[in-house]
Amino acid sequence: MASSMLYSANIPLSVPRSLRVRASNTNDNVPMKKMGMSDEECEAAVVAGNIPEAPPAPSKPAAPAGTPVVPSLAECCCCDISEIMRKGDNASISRRPRRNRRSPALRAAFQETSLSPANLVYPLFIHEGEEDTPIGAMPGCYRLGWRHGLVEEVTKARDVGVNSIVLFPKVPDALKTSTGDEAYNENGLVPQTIRLLKDKYPDLIIYTDVALDPYSSDGHDGIVREDGVIMNDETVHQLCKQAVAQARAGADIVSPSDMMDGRVGAIRAALDADGFQHVSIMSYTAKYASSFYGPFREALDSNPRFGDKKTYQMNPANYREALVETREDESEGADILLVKPGLPYLDIIRLLRDNSPLPIAAYQVSGEYSMIKAGGVLKMIDEERVMTESLMCLRRAGADIILTYFALQAARCLCGEKR
Ligand code: PBG
Repeated sequence: MASSMLYSANIPLSVPRSLRVRASNTNDNVPMKKMGMSDEECEAAVVAGNIPEAPPAPSKPAAPAGTPVVPSLAECCCCDISEIMRKGDNASISRRPRRNRRSPALRAAFQETSLSPANLVYPLFIHEGEEDTPIGAMPGCYRLGWRHGLVEEVTKARDVGVNSIVLFPKVPDALKTSTGDEAYNENGLVPQTIRLLKDKYPDLIIYTDVALDPYSSDGHDGIVREDGVIMNDETVHQLCKQAVAQARAGADIVSPSDMMDGRVGAIRAALDADGFQHVSIMSYTAKYASSFYGPFREALDSNPRFGDKKTYQMNPANYREALVETREDESEGADILLVKPGLPYLDIIRLLRDNSPLPIAAYQVSGEYSMIKAGGVLKMIDEERVMTESLMCLRRAGADIILTYFALQAARCLCGEKR
């Protein structure tokens, strides 16, 4: 690895091997040849005053026929002389940013952002059944049987360093009501699953979704009044019960994704009153009314039965409004602020990053995932590279953690494993 990392393709391989850095001076590995001499000969030569020559200036490899012959920009004779006079000496370039990009080692040294499996949170769909059923709109994703398939998937994720998951339940229609009371059934699917996972993996970080939509016969995140209005405070009351039920089961971080006003403060108070001061709240601070959620709603069969979510989720056209939500969530005691969707909302991630000291989460949602998958299947893009780039860009924009259906695949890539 040393040689491929240290030397770029366009520096001739005649660069002296003595530049190689060695981690130890033992000779158990293949001895490094320096100018054809052994280490001992080399050392003796240096002691005797025969210091090696400086490396030769790189030769100029041939350029393709037809390449224009021009003076170096540093001399800048190609520019109009009056232009040079006007700009002064700065007209010739003294800064060549490509210098810092010329070899893999330099690029690695100056890389500003990193991506690690520890940054990833794996959203997992669960259901009561035994089988894992594929989700048509999300290739590679399944509704996992909570007793078996889920545990297996969590084990695979932990094997490559992803130790955080978030659970989304597919609830049978028979359990859905207009007030979503199944959401706080302590023997419901989510609490039972949390207990099972915590029993097997006590150090697994379990995030939960706090919202009524999987449990609502109306497919909304809150209770719907006769006239179609989503009832804020009554919904928050239910969400508090839901969050406490999840905390009792062993959830580490509850994540209200409902966008009701005042829910973070109310959930904080409810958790504290029940002795769960240690349970964190990741608030979906800037959650937009986005069409990128389509595949997710198919996965959970949670499409609103009527209307849309625009009276509670934010207008995709709005930027400043995200600051209003940020201030509220901070003052109500949120521990982590989340932006959703991810890639089309990088400006919002950056806005929150620059305006809050709290950790920022980004949710690369179902539609973003499925588009990359589809592009890969159609061979229009390189799926793995686009995946990694999109995750890196979310980190660069300011996300500390990323919720992504690619978590396992990406972590395997980062660990150097292929599927
Ligand atoms: C609902 C919820 C949604 C998602 C996460 N939680 C959908 C919605 O608001 O309708 C979407 C996630 C995705 O698209 O991947 N509380």
